[in-house]
Parts: sequence; C-alpha cells; structure tokens
Amino acid sequence: MSASHTASITPLTELLSQDMRLVNEVIIARMSSDVPMIPQLANHLIAAGGKRMRPLLCLAGAYAVRGADASGDHKAQLLSAAVEFIHNATLLHDDVIDESDKRRGRDTANALWGNEASVLVGDFLFARAFELMVETDDIAVLGMLSSASARITEGEVKQMTMAGKPESPMADYLQVITGKTAILFAAAAASGAKVSGGAKEVIDAMHHYGLSLGMAFQIVDDALDYRSDVAAMGKNSGDDFVDGKITMPVILAWEKGTEDERAFWQRSIGEGDIQEGDFAKAVAILDSYSAIDEALQRAKSYVDEAIKALDILSDEALRSALQSAAYYTVARTS
Ligand code: IPE
Ligand code: IPE
Ligand code: MG
Ligand code: MG
Repeated sequence: MSASHTASITPLTELLSQDMRLVNEVIIARMSSDVPMIPQLANHLIAAGGKRMRPLLCLAGAYAVRGADASGDHKAQLLSAAVEFIHNATLLHDDVIDESDKRRGRDTANALWGNEASVLVGDFLFARAFELMVETDDIAVLGMLSSASARITEGEVKQMTMAGKPESPMADYLQVITGKTAILFAAAAASGAKVSGGAKEVIDAMHHYGLSLGMAFQIVDDALDYRSDVAAMGKNSGDDFVDGKITMPVILAWEKGTEDERAFWQRSIGEGDIQEGDFAKAVAILDSYSAIDEALQRAKSYVDEAIKALDILSDEALRSALQSAAYYTVARTS
C-alpha cells in the first residue's frame, strides 16, 4: 500500500452519511414488535453498532449509478436496511453455533437471553429483511439477496462439516468464505446498483468489488483470530482454534507442517483435545511459517482485485472512498 492511500471506511461513511442516517431510522423502525423481547434482544445487538459495511456497500451501489443524487433514493435505503438485517440475523445464529459470548464489545444475545431466543429473533430479522426487499418492488434484487441468504447458510454448513479437519484443501476454505461472507458483500453492492436502475457493467463491477472485498475481509478476520485480543476486536480471539474451525493460517501451516506438527493439529483442532498452552503453541507454529503474514498477503491480492473492479466507475469521490474501504479491510485491527 502506498502512503498516499487512506485505509479507512470513514470516507465512505462520510460520503453516504445522509443516506446512512435514514437507513438507521428504517432499521430502528423495523425492529419493532408487539412482543417486547424481540426489539429488546435485537436492539442489544443492533444498537451496539458494528461497522455497517454491508448497508454502506448497498448505498455505494446506488451512488455508483445515480451519483450524489442517490441521496434520498428510498428503495436503496430500504434495501440497505434489509442487508443489515440479514447480516445481524446471521450473527445471532452464528453466535449460537459458535457458542460465542462476546460480540461488538458486548455480551452476546445468546449469553444473555439464551440460544432459543437468539435463534428466533434471528429468524424474525430475516423475515423483516424480506418484507423490506418486497417493498422495493424489484424482483431482481429480491432474487439476488434471497440467493445470497441461501449461500450464507450453505457456507456455514460447509464450514461445520469441515470442522476438525486440518487436512482440508484450501479450495474448500475459499468456498466456505465465499458463501458465508463474500456473497453478501457482493449482493449488497450489486443490488444497490440494480435497484437504482444501473447498467449491467456497473452492477457487475459492484458485484466483483463486493465479492473480492468480502474474501479479503473474512481472510483477515480469520487471521486476526490468532492475533488480536478482545479489546480490539470486540469479540474473543482464539475461538476458531477451540471450536476446531479450519481457516487459512491453519491450512497453510498444515500444508508445510512436519509430522509432529500435524499430530499436534490433529489432536488439538482435530480431536478437540485442547491442553494448556496449546493456543500459544499453535500461534508459534503459525509464526514459524509466517502463516498469518501469508494469509494477509493473500487478502491483499483480493483487495487489489476489488480496486481494479472500480475502474469503470466515473465518480472520483466514490471510487476513492471505496478504495480506502478496500485498504481498510487489510489494515484493520478490529
Ligand atoms: C462479522 O462481520 C462477521 C464476519 C463476516 C467476520 P463484521 O465484522 O462486518 O461485523 P460488524 O457488523 O461490524 O459487527
Ligand atoms: C460470522 O462468521 C458469520 C457469518 C459470516 C455468516 P465467523 O464465525 O467466522 O465470524 P465471527 O468471528 O463470529 O464474527
Ligand atoms: Mg462466529
Ligand atoms: Mg461462525
């Protein structure tokens, strides 16, 4: 990355701040329910913030088509809220599956209200997302985001079937993260362009940007799980190791590993027999092969690809903000 590039989502947030404010209003309004536990639990997660990357991408898609005039594009706002609901629904479900107790710097909903409530409110947010999508009256975007929702679950299920198998091929990992993360980034960006009446090349460019960004984002997220602490990430590090989740650094270290190291991965992450000091040992093995650095390098290639996809966009401010957001995904520590 050259020094002249900002690595931050702030330019994008600022460019789209007016729209984002309205999206947040839609989000708050559509969380409501006569059953008090629903807004209580949903609000616990949603009010904690999050980076709002997916709704920003959706608004960026609209902006790519309509320029600054996209401000006030009500359909794009509804769609952005829908995308954030889909994301939050998957987080509620994901934290149950992963038995996580920290998210966005807070106790998780499952830790506070239990698994049943989290799963049900996750379903509620999914359903609300579909209501919002229907309101856009655009069957094509409904198609994009419904398919994305199915792909997210496929990714999560495939990841589950890979758990505990450190010998898994890299291609399988890439397929998992494409489904569970990158597809929603892609669909968010592309559907924003589509709902605003964009030409095919713009929709495709936004899709390509979102997909590459999503790949980079998840690879970095998985790498940080072996690096960061709770304070920085707002969620626990080391969870993947304990959960037997097979991510890029582990696959790289397995590929290069000695027999002894493979036996270590097999016992710990494979059989779930985790002994004291194992996480530190895992990190030491990863470091000995620069596996985290290599993962970050691969993420960087996806970022370059994302940036290339922006070439056809005519608006300089948008292109530059999306470029900074792309650099941010590999520079982030949280
Ligand atoms: C978390 O996504 C799930 C992953 C794809 C790693 P984000 O990191 O975008 O979560 P929030 O919305 O900012 O909390
Ligand atoms: C988050 O995945 C959920 C989806 C992408 C669907 P992870 O389990 O990898 O991410 P965190 O660490 O819980 O955010
Ligand atoms: Mg998780
Ligand atoms: Mg998970």
